[in-house]
Amino acid sequence: MDGNGRWAAGRGFPRLLGHRAGVQAARRIVEAAPAAGVGILTLFAFSSDNWRRPAAEVEALMGLLARYLETETPRCVEEGVRVQVIGRRDRLAGRLCAAILDAEKATATGSRLWLRIAVDYSARDSILAAAAALPELSRDALASAIGPAVDLLIRTGGERRLSDFLLWESAYAELVFTRTMWPDFGPADLTAAVREFRGRERRYGAIPTPPRLRTEAWLD
Ligand code: IPE
Ligand code: MG
Repeated sequence: MDGNGRWAAGRGFPRLLGHRAGVQAARRIVEAAPAAGVGILTLFAFSSDNWRRPAAEVEALMGLLARYLETETPRCVEEGVRVQVIGRRDRLAGRLCAAILDAEKATATGSRLWLRIAVDYSARDSILAAAAALPELSRDALASAIGPAVDLLIRTGGERRLSDFLLWESAYAELVFTRTMWPDFGPADLTAAVREFRGRERRYGAIPTPPRLRTEAWLD
């Protein structure tokens, strides 16, 4: 979800208005995700490096997050959206922590969409924490401790980097970068990214499997 600040600046608005518009965009994308074929949606809302921003902006972002969780939880329950927040909790304000716990508890049985929101999140820290908590380190154990592998990673706002987001999980993710600023990113853009994803050949290091003729399959 990158580009809120530039979206606002381009219109002569303060950055906060960009973040507010970004929340509306998130609502639209969450609503559109199941029909677009997305079963797990992870939104990068606040990175552990975003603490470097001015205190007023950090506070505004945290307030928007708490409000988003408070207001959207009933709709998520209705729509079968399971909400989970990933990242550190120990540096978050009490109101936000309470909103997270309430949202996670109320939506725990949702099965139409698994919505994960990354807050005070750093992929490197999450890998370290998961590894430290494991009795024995292995690729499979770490993979299941960390979370689901990413199929498609979309970054809005024109930058072409991962910025410490889902690094382990994105080992074989298909990357889509778009210049569209997050507040302008809508359901049609999501559908277009999914279409691009479906058109890519995923080989996982192997070589392409040639398409088989019907007669070959029939001979099996
Ligand atoms: C939103 O966009 C990302 C968040 C941290 C919420 P930005 O705030 O990074 O917007 P730009 O990159 O300055 O345009
Ligand atoms: Mg940015």
